[in-house]
Amino acid sequence: MRDLVFATNNAHKLDEVRSIVGHRMNILGLRDIGCNEDIPETADTLEGNALIKARYVKEHYGYDCFADDTGLEVDALGGAPGVYSARYAGPGHDSEANMRLLLANLDGIVDRRARFRTVIALIEGSEERQFEGIVEGSITTEPGGVGGFGYDPVFMPEGFGMTFAEMDADAKNAVSHRGRAMRSLMEYLLG
Ligand code: IMP
Repeated sequence: MRDLVFATNNAHKLDEVRSIVGHRMNILGLRDIGCNEDIPETADTLEGNALIKARYVKEHYGYDCFADDTGLEVDALGGAPGVYSARYAGPGHDSEANMRLLLANLDGIVDRRARFRTVIALIEGSEERQFEGIVEGSITTEPGGVGGFGYDPVFMPEGFGMTFAEMDADAKNAVSHRGRAMRSLMEYLLG
């Protein structure tokens, strides 16, 4: 079975991908290949950060691999927090603080359109490819629901009367940015 590294240590993401791939491929996480470094994400685009992580693994460990990067892009904020979504409220702040800041910055703003965008960079041998997944939606005026993570309680996907945090994991995966990007990667890899 072919080995492919997913450049993450996020157990949730690894489970998600392994359940899509089944027995067709052996998906390894960073820890599985002995990589315990925190790969610096220094680019100012999602595409750049995904490539940095994938190239790091290829160069240092030699494996074919893929890496993802995600951002929440809010129209009324000129696309922010975007590539800085994880640290919107500053380094060391948690999702709660990020969401509070987002709601404060959108206070009184009527246009609440937003999207989650995931970019995946794949490196096979010397070939680099990118895949993208987008879900359009809007930012609510207050958090709702307890599921998921990150900005899920304040993001309502278009066509659903509930936030990501109010949807079960399968329903979220079916429409989510990461689900879509992962499926397009898997369609390419598995045919
Ligand atoms: P990452 O690139 O997947 O680590 O995502 C960067 C940041 O975007 C995370 O720290 C979260 O704040 C946010 N994010 C990514 N995916 C999701 C999601 O599915 N729901 C809510 N927030 C997310």
